[in-house]
Amino acid sequence: MTTWQKSDWRSKPRVQMPEYKDPAALAAVESRLRQYPPLVFAGEARRLKSLLAKASRGEAFLLQGGDCAESFSEFSADTIRDTFKVLLQMAMVLTYGAKVPVIKVGRMAGQFAKPRSAPTEVVNGMELPSYRGDIINDLEFTPEARSPNPDKMLQAYTQAAATLNLVRAFSTGGYADMNRVHSWTLGFAEGKGAERYRDLAERIQDTIDFMAAAGIDSDTAHEFSTVEFYTSHEALLLEYEEALCRLDSTSGQWLAGSGHLIWIGDRTRQPDGAHVEFAKGVQNPIGLKCGPSTTPEDLKVLMSKLNPDNEAGRLTLIARFGAGKVGDHLPRLIRTVQEEGANVVWSCDPMHGNTEKSATGYKTRFFNNILKEVQEFFAIHKAEGTIPAGVHFEMTGKDVTECTGGVRAITDEDLGDRYHTACDPRMNASQSLELAFLVAEELTDLRREREKREAV
Ligand code: PEP
Ligand code: CO
Repeated sequence: MTTWQKSDWRSKPRVQMPEYKDPAALAAVESRLRQYPPLVFAGEARRLKSLLAKASRGEAFLLQGGDCAESFSEFSADTIRDTFKVLLQMAMVLTYGAKVPVIKVGRMAGQFAKPRSAPTEVVNGMELPSYRGDIINDLEFTPEARSPNPDKMLQAYTQAAATLNLVRAFSTGGYADMNRVHSWTLGFAEGKGAERYRDLAERIQDTIDFMAAAGIDSDTAHEFSTVEFYTSHEALLLEYEEALCRLDSTSGQWLAGSGHLIWIGDRTRQPDGAHVEFAKGVQNPIGLKCGPSTTPEDLKVLMSKLNPDNEAGRLTLIARFGAGKVGDHLPRLIRTVQEEGANVVWSCDPMHGNTEKSATGYKTRFFNNILKEVQEFFAIHKAEGTIPAGVHFEMTGKDVTECTGGVRAITDEDLGDRYHTACDPRMNASQSLELAFLVAEELTDLRREREKREAV
């Protein structure tokens, strides 16, 4: 019997949330959102949780990815389609490496609110509130644009609903057919610089051909033509989250109706803070970002608050330390989890610890550092005897130039060409797929090791 209420977070200290100047306007928006349908159904959140439970045991692998921040101005069917498409390609390559199902979760259909390192920004002597994502204010540097506007929550809801609708259509309407998805990947592997991936791509093709010959294809098996796809975002703007929170009549439990999985950011994981208070009461799978400042003591409290029943699949710990630093931090957290006998899904976010400034002045990430952090994550889990169960990327299907490196090498000088992010630098389609090939190699090694151990 729970006494938790969806508004309980309001009595807790809150950080990274806007102060709305007009309480009546805010209340009107909240009341509208309370009347709107939730975006997801509780049964879907439970299904995702059961898949994540498998990932925690090494029987599935989590792929979570998408924009740092979705934007109102870049909202289009093409943008959604392209990100969805690359995620499917990545998932297929990872499935082949891991030989277990890959759980596909987009940073999509709700990823609008952003934590910032400073509450204000000064440009030419003028100080204004920082941009906090399109659900809160506008990027433009004027007092009006930067002032938090609650009406933007309604636009975010509409965009999230339309995005989810298109993604659901793509997932089951034929777009996700394995033959199609793989034909795009083959194109990449045949391109200049990608020779190293051709062998794996051809082996996937052989497998598809073999199964088709044996009578298993999109006509006979719906697994070939449809995918399960889930949504996720950082549950940062709690007025929005509360307004979409619903009591699920089947289970009698609360559901965050804004997306399938919600996560708590590295800046908002105070054990007694508002964000943890909200997440603890909803039945969705929860992600928790763990950065360098995460202490074993905090992690223990957070695990007991967020997953008191130690339910497998409920809690995903998303490690984000930075290349070269994983060894300084991950082992103590792994040991804390082991000591507590806690069930968690270990995922690696190699993006947020690897942001730097390029020589040309852009906020960027080096492809090699992203890869290095993933490799360190795998190596440490191997040494500790625990399971690396997923990856978390900021990426887009568009041909942007925001991160440097990759086979179609982007240099510091190229960054200005198509630097479109309103927030953090994302990998483009080619870099994302390349990373999937490299992670697939790690997964193949891991699987072979396990098979070897099991054989003796
Ligand atoms: C993010 O995932 O966009 C983010 C801000 O991450 P973190 O909380 O880990 O810094
Ligand atoms: Co980000």
